[in-house]
Amino acid sequence: MANKGGLEGAVVADITTSFIDGAVGKLIYSGYTIEDLAENATFEEVLFLLYNVRLPNKSEFEDLRATIAKSATVPEPVLAMMKSLPTETPAMAVLRTAVSMLSAYDDDAENLTDKEVAKAKAFRLTGQITTICAAWMRIVKGEEPVAPREDLTLAENFVYMMSSEEPDATASAAVNVYLVLLAEHGMNASTFTTRVVTATGADMHSAIVGGIGALKGPSHGGANSEAMKMFLEIGEVDNVEPWFDKNIKNGDRRIMGIGHRVYKANDPRAGILKKHAEALANSSGNSKWFEIAVKLEEAARADQYFIDRNLYPNVDYYSAIVLYTLDLDIDMFTPLFAMSRIAGWSAHVIAQMGGRLIRPKANYVGPEGLSWTPIGER
Ligand code: ACO
Repeated sequence: MANKGGLEGAVVADITTSFIDGAVGKLIYSGYTIEDLAENATFEEVLFLLYNVRLPNKSEFEDLRATIAKSATVPEPVLAMMKSLPTETPAMAVLRTAVSMLSAYDDDAENLTDKEVAKAKAFRLTGQITTICAAWMRIVKGEEPVAPREDLTLAENFVYMMSSEEPDATASAAVNVYLVLLAEHGMNASTFTTRVVTATGADMHSAIVGGIGALKGPSHGGANSEAMKMFLEIGEVDNVEPWFDKNIKNGDRRIMGIGHRVYKANDPRAGILKKHAEALANSSGNSKWFEIAVKLEEAARADQYFIDRNLYPNVDYYSAIVLYTLDLDIDMFTPLFAMSRIAGWSAHVIAQMGGRLIRPKANYVGPEGLSWTPIGER
């Protein structure tokens, strides 16, 4: 049988962090449903859960929150490097470069074996990625980055560093839900990348840089910004049907934010984000983008092509509306995904440390039996 590629169905590791039942649209993190966590958890509690396979008590939570907040400062040379970049540099390229540079200022960057040291390093990276995201949003506007505060949760700190004002409770809660929903997702492409890098014995910063690179692509995390660009291109609710007919039914484009390798039913994260997107749209007084997204989803779900292939909105579809309503630049959508997924990446990196080299095989389909022709005779 022809190999469709993509390692579909291949099992890479035993994990305790998350389980996806794509046939029924179910997702759990270490035993808890994503619905329960989205309703109740802070991002820090999720991080603790992924690392320890249990929820933290009050003092463990406060300890972790404070550890991340205290180590979220980004070294001045990294901020200076970011300020030196052209402001039109894609934010994911900025993040990738900044995280790589952080390793030069991390005393434990080359400690490759101690899992406790690795955890502390992961907490630093978690806070620092948030600071880098907020700093870049200010740098592109010609503003000075704001240093993280030690008394805030990660979601609050992001909102604070972005605006330099006391973090708004509604915005912080929306960012927190987003971070909880995106924190971990089995053997997705970027997580797999971090595992492949780690399995060679390389350092955590290299693994996370690899993860950021994989997340950047539009088939993965880059789909959230591409989905928003698509909604903007559609522009008006009345344009949805003609746009769908021209570009999808009679064109060769894909609807960004629809389809998933594992989910062949509703992605539960998309359903949760849809409710948040609707609430934010109503409270902001601008529901146009939400309405466009809903109408496009309805057009797709009524179409036989999408029905036959079990194509439903994935997490990136409605998260685009949530992040846009929070007034984030479209270019920042995928870095925000990274700000959350560092939780899953780092948990997988630590689990993979000391594990066996990941090295699949390829099926050779090229020519055989050729003999060398001197260059002048070719
Ligand atoms: N719009 C239209 N058709 C689609 C879409 C889409 N968004 N997604 C898949 N299809 C079709 C394909 O054309 C293919 O049809 P065929 O069988 O007639 O050739 C079929 O559905 C299966 O698609 P594959 O590409 O084989 O599925 P795969 O599992 O490899 O890809 C992917 C999954 C990349 C997510 C795909 O659905 C896609 O490109 N979606 C749009 C981008 C996107 O939203 N990515 C984010 C994924 S979630 C995440 O990473 C956080």
